[in-house]
Amino acid sequence: MSDARQLAQRALKHFNEGTTDRAPSQLTVPVSAYTDEAQFQAERQAVYFESPIAIALSLEIPQPGDFQTQTIMGVPLLITRDRDGLIHCFINVCRHRGAKVCSAEKGHQSRFSCPYHAWTYSNRGDLIGVYGEDSFGGVDRATMGLTALYCVERAGVVFACLTPGKSFDIDSWLGGFADKLADQKLTDWHLYTERWLPGAGWKATLDGYLEVYHHDSVHGKTVGPYTVGNLLVHDTWGAHQRMVIAKKNISELNDIEVDSWESPESYIRVVHSVFPNLSISAILGGHCLIGFIYPGETSTTTSTRQLILSATQPASDEDSEAVETFSQMTLQAVRDEDYALVATIQDALHSGANDSFLIGRNEPAVQHYHRAVASISAAGGS
Ligand code: FES
Ligand SMILES: [Fe+2]
Repeated sequence: MSDARQLAQRALKHFNEGTTDRAPSQLTVPVSAYTDEAQFQAERQAVYFESPIAIALSLEIPQPGDFQTQTIMGVPLLITRDRDGLIHCFINVCRHRGAKVCSAEKGHQSRFSCPYHAWTYSNRGDLIGVYGEDSFGGVDRATMGLTALYCVERAGVVFACLTPGKSFDIDSWLGGFADKLADQKLTDWHLYTERWLPGAGWKATLDGYLEVYHHDSVHGKTVGPYTVGNLLVHDTWGAHQRMVIAKKNISELNDIEVDSWESPESYIRVVHSVFPNLSISAILGGHCLIGFIYPGETSTTTSTRQLILSATQPASDEDSEAVETFSQMTLQAVRDEDYALVATIQDALHSGANDSFLIGRNEPAVQHYHRAVASISAAGGS
């Protein structure tokens, strides 16, 4: 039986019985887990710097010679695809005296010349030109290439480790989740737009991505009307999670024999949460919302890179309007609803109202995230 059929069956059962997937018990999380700066720094280091994180989608750098730059948590990155199609990630910093090598956000070029003294690097990171080397003195090109970060693609996602010299085994990191991600066929989508959103602290922000308990109350004017509140179908693979939400039309499936369900995926919404920072929310109608969420320098802020994808390049005014409407709706839901609400949590975390927060049995994905952070942090990284 297809995944979508099974998931729709599980969602329909919950809908009919008024239930949801639940954790075995509630989880108590001390408020200090959100506010303690020493704990935050240790967790950020272990989870975001000593473990693999998702930094881009393959479709953003699709062709040999394409490149993209970003600054993630203070680290300037240059992501390139070489002529063999291999992806690379470098720290976008010149080895001479540290200038930013490439200031364009994206483009197509196979060599990069530093704007300061014109040292030139290939898109494989090799130092290939030293301006005025006779006067400068010799430079050991073998050791003076751009600083590479270990980087690998899987299922249309580019993963990297931000600590130079540290690698990882993506297959053991993703485990069976790799197949679920591959099913999303992320390389086939079209990038419509991207934007950065400032947000409140890391855990308060992430919590909001991992439960649907708030959907009816917070999203009553956006996504709420289309989905069933407080109904979650939840699965985990290691630290990674899949959340399935029922759409309001799911009751129609009660009138159809399971074997005759033609498009069970049109009765559910599936969200893949790639630990620790990527949320992939494929939405029926050929639109997809992607969020890369990064903690700021302190426990009080995040930056989110949000991408809007459409299944195909909009070919008509109607297509363009539909994807723009989706883009605006998600912006409203995430920025004006989720992030505005979470800002009120952040503002009062130090108020003394709570010593701890209670994560409900109906919030299993929030519980799972907090446990994964604690276990990876205790191990000092993945
Ligand atoms: S800093 Fe780049 S060439 Fe001097
Ligand atoms: Fe939300």
